[in-house]
Amino acid sequence: MAEIIKAAMFDVKSYDKESFTALCDNEKIKIKYFETKLTPDTAELAKGYDVVIVFVNDIVSKEVIDKLYSYGVKLIALRCAGFNNVDVKAAFEKIHIVRVPAYSPYAVAEHAMAMLLTIIRRTHKAYIRTKDFNFNISGLTGFDLHGKTIGVIGTGKIGRTFIDICKGFGMNINAYDPFPAKDSDINYVSLDSLFRESDIISLHCPLTNDTRHIINKDSVLKMKKGVIIINTSRGALIDTDALIDGLKDRKIGAACLDVYEEESDIFFEDYSGHIVNDDNLARLITMPNVLITSHQAFLTKEALENIAETTLDNITAFFEREEVKNEVCYQCDRKEECKKSRSGKCF
Ligand code: NAI
Repeated sequence: MAEIIKAAMFDVKSYDKESFTALCDNEKIKIKYFETKLTPDTAELAKGYDVVIVFVNDIVSKEVIDKLYSYGVKLIALRCAGFNNVDVKAAFEKIHIVRVPAYSPYAVAEHAMAMLLTIIRRTHKAYIRTKDFNFNISGLTGFDLHGKTIGVIGTGKIGRTFIDICKGFGMNINAYDPFPAKDSDINYVSLDSLFRESDIISLHCPLTNDTRHIINKDSVLKMKKGVIIINTSRGALIDTDALIDGLKDRKIGAACLDVYEEESDIFFEDYSGHIVNDDNLARLITMPNVLITSHQAFLTKEALENIAETTLDNITAFFEREEVKNEVCYQCDRKEECKKSRSGKCF
């Protein structure tokens, strides 16, 4: 391995560059920053680099992976936790993958609560009114969170942090996770009961084949009238058509969305001077009881610092150490076949 590790970072925003350059003063890892996303068309930019550093909406499909492999790229370093945008199977035995499994569960959990409080207490409306010297409070009636039941789907790092926040508000917790947290006092219920009993439902599970469209036409039918849905995990956990129908039927009382099924070409960009062609997104934005943020739940100073630090450490670990603890591997789920426990790397 050459002494200097050359990395190409895609989908770079000013805040990414700031957090990485602040830590990258040792000349061991040299990063070239590209504003463009990684796609089959832009993969060629990675020629001559050892590593590509990617984010949630970069496309790391089989086609892209094959191209990167032919250019000699050895490592895909995700600067995020979720890896649903990477064809892990296609990368197996070609290019290693690392990720940042946790950088600040507080950032995401606190954002979920911020969205919930905004939508139920209408602070987004109040802000606009008082900016215009309109001090009328009609139409801003909210409700107390105290005593309400919140259904939390996924009780990993973020889900559990969110539960702690909700407990502070005096809420009752219903949780569902196929792998419940051991030794916790979390009240686990079936997914069906969670849908039927919750006043508010918050999604904190990864996007997998099992969880894709976990909120769909059938699950919406089971929910309480007026239920509030919060999604800070991945857009495709919700079937957008079912969400819109539920909102139009007044079955769903409100939705707080930090992620959206078709976000990849839209979120993180400024389309304020354009006509957006996504009719579902446009419809959601017109609704007064829908709050959309543009995948910003992770965006805190602490999280950005942790992302940069762990990503750089993952890269160093891969090239200089035996064990790469944050490696993502196609075989890891099939524990008996995975080499990682024996050799420190998946292949
Ligand atoms: P984690 O891995 O600690 O927890 C995920 C939990 O989901 C685990 O307990 C797992 O057992 C559970 N789970 C798996 N399959 C499930 C199913 N079928 N139904 C219900 N639960 C299931 O992950 P963490 O750190 O808590 O993150 C959760 C998700 O948040 C990530 O997968 C990612 O998609 C999203 N995220 C969003 C960010 C944003 O900026 N909006 C930032 C970071 C993460």
